[in-house]
Amino acid sequence: MYPGSFDPITLGHDDIVRRSLKLVDRLIVTVAYTATQVKQPLFEVRERVELLERVYADEPRVEVSSFQGLLVDFARSMSAPIIIRGLRAVSDFEYEFQMALMNRSLWPEIEVIFMAPASQYTFLSSSLVREVARLGGRVADFVPPVVLDALIERVGPSVAGE
Ligand code: PNS
Repeated sequence: MYPGSFDPITLGHDDIVRRSLKLVDRLIVTVAYTATQVKQPLFEVRERVELLERVYADEPRVEVSSFQGLLVDFARSMSAPIIIRGLRAVSDFEYEFQMALMNRSLWPEIEVIFMAPASQYTFLSSSLVREVARLGGRVADFVPPVVLDALIERVGPSVAGE
């Protein structure tokens, strides 16, 4: 299971999804209703799920969902004891490590795999994409095409750099 806020999915997330598919047969990409660090959402959870479904329409091994409540409870209900998380830099480590150990204390069977993204995505985050897009900057190199279209609709054509 690859959980996150995905507000919106970036090419960094997509890179982690593609790498994860080398390790697992089936990947549940799931949007959390309760995400600790998201302050001003740009897309509703339902819209994020729709975008993910469109990005992975041609990838039968990816299942898209959303969940309320605790990640471990959802993971257990889906019989998905492996959690994938991307780790971009040392700065991510403390938060990720805390979450991993808390999740494991809530459900001892869970294993967390930290994946390193391609180096060109180590600076990329959904929160920066949201901020740059809201302020009229170009984000075309950072998100999948369907997300760019949604961003154009939401904040205007400047996100495409045109
Ligand atoms: O993409 P994000 O915002 O870094 O993802 C964080 C996420 C959604 C994985 C985390 O906030 C989460 O697991 N939320 C669900 C609620 C939960 O289980 N909280 C306890 C975490 S130890």
